[in-house]
Amino acid sequence: MQEIKEYIEQHKPRFLEELFALLRFPSVSADPKYKGDVLKTAEFVASKLAEAGADLVEVCPTAGYPIVYGEKLIDSSLPTVLVYGHYDVQPPDPLELWDTPPFEPTVRDGKIFARGACDDKGQFYMHIKAFETMMSTQQLPCNIKFMIEGEEEVGSDNLGQFVKDNKARLQADVVLISDTSMISMENPSLETGLRGLAYMEVEVVGPNRDLHSGVYGGAVANPATILCQMIASLHDENNHVTIPGFYDGVIELSDAEKQALNAAPFDLDEYKKDLAVDDVWGEKGYSTLERTGTRPTLEVNGIWGGYTGPGAKTVLPSKAEAKISMRLVPGQDWQRISDLFKNHFESIAPKSVKVKVTAHHGGMPYVTPVDSVAFKAAFKAIEESFGKAPVPTRGGGSIPIVALFEQELNIKTVLMGFGLDSDNLHSPNEKYDIYNYYKGIETIPLFFKHFADLSK
Ligand code: BES
Ligand code: MN
Ligand code: MN
Repeated sequence: MQEIKEYIEQHKPRFLEELFALLRFPSVSADPKYKGDVLKTAEFVASKLAEAGADLVEVCPTAGYPIVYGEKLIDSSLPTVLVYGHYDVQPPDPLELWDTPPFEPTVRDGKIFARGACDDKGQFYMHIKAFETMMSTQQLPCNIKFMIEGEEEVGSDNLGQFVKDNKARLQADVVLISDTSMISMENPSLETGLRGLAYMEVEVVGPNRDLHSGVYGGAVANPATILCQMIASLHDENNHVTIPGFYDGVIELSDAEKQALNAAPFDLDEYKKDLAVDDVWGEKGYSTLERTGTRPTLEVNGIWGGYTGPGAKTVLPSKAEAKISMRLVPGQDWQRISDLFKNHFESIAPKSVKVKVTAHHGGMPYVTPVDSVAFKAAFKAIEESFGKAPVPTRGGGSIPIVALFEQELNIKTVLMGFGLDSDNLHSPNEKYDIYNYYKGIETIPLFFKHFADLSK
């Protein structure tokens, strides 16, 4: 391990430069105007995998953006680790809220500011550099496969098919992902759960055209008002979701599990201060950590309609729309929840408007077993590199494909993320600490070492 440390130490500046080059690609999967850049990013990732020592590197086309696959198989008697990550990023807007441009990585206060710095370029690239390090020091103790996709931020629509079509090639003993958060560098943690997701879009349509709000206002239903009323009715006075059947099957935590979850270091005052809110909000009867980690929720992601330009325009809009998503927990099925939402939302619409509900993508929740060899290896790796045992936590985010790895390939996933919730994922000024980047590169080889040892 000494050689590994020395190798990392010697190559730190280049490791950082290469990450910067990766971050300069505006690989926004949601917006077709970046198509060329997304494709170039896949090529860049493939070339870096090959340089790091992968034998077989392929940019695999899909109906959407390609999947970069690479592998180094050293010995079929050794365990195999499948590393998953995504090279696509969220749109950078609102641009005016960035202190420095999103695709010109800039270091301030030891942190790299750029879209994708943490989610997920900075994190998956650690694996490529850890792989290079293990190869260059002749200390790769497992077979390794990489699958880096370009559509995670838009729902991984084509990855499921790719996994189904490549079952043999993707066989592995564990999936290792760095695309989640830790509590803090002083309190390292390992996420053991991801929530599922059901994403909907709704449209409330009233009159056949925008109307003069003085001439018609008060006599014709205003779709914006109706939409707000309908959305408001989706939570009751205790902030429970009111969709009939929404909580059916939800697995409640045992008292012991609740206690363990709430024992994680968490400072509510700090949390509020960081977000500049005077109070938190949520389902009655649950703590903040329980609300985000273990409870299903419903959020409005965006709502619009009518006149939103400068100044004032007196208008009664013809329609109003919203994007609404639900985070799901074990026991819930995203397609069933999407159906329940659609039926309920249509049923509560008054006759004065028409309602259209469309389901976007979704994904199943996932909980990692903590008694597996792979989890133990991740635990030991973090304990060794941070000098402190990690706390298991349940994350609130989603990586829909993780449940599919289990379903299609029968492989469990370990979530060894090095980001922080405060890294502004999906927000302006996304960042990733240089310290975390190097720490990840140091910790990953320890995972491989412990995984190989514990698998013997
Ligand atoms: N890396 C995140 C998920 C994440 C972040 C999990 C922090 C745990 C902690 C991932 O890129 C993401 O943003 N996923 C989306 C879902 C996807 C279908 C758009 C999400 O959670 O909203
Ligand atoms: Mn991500
Ligand atoms: Mn993301």
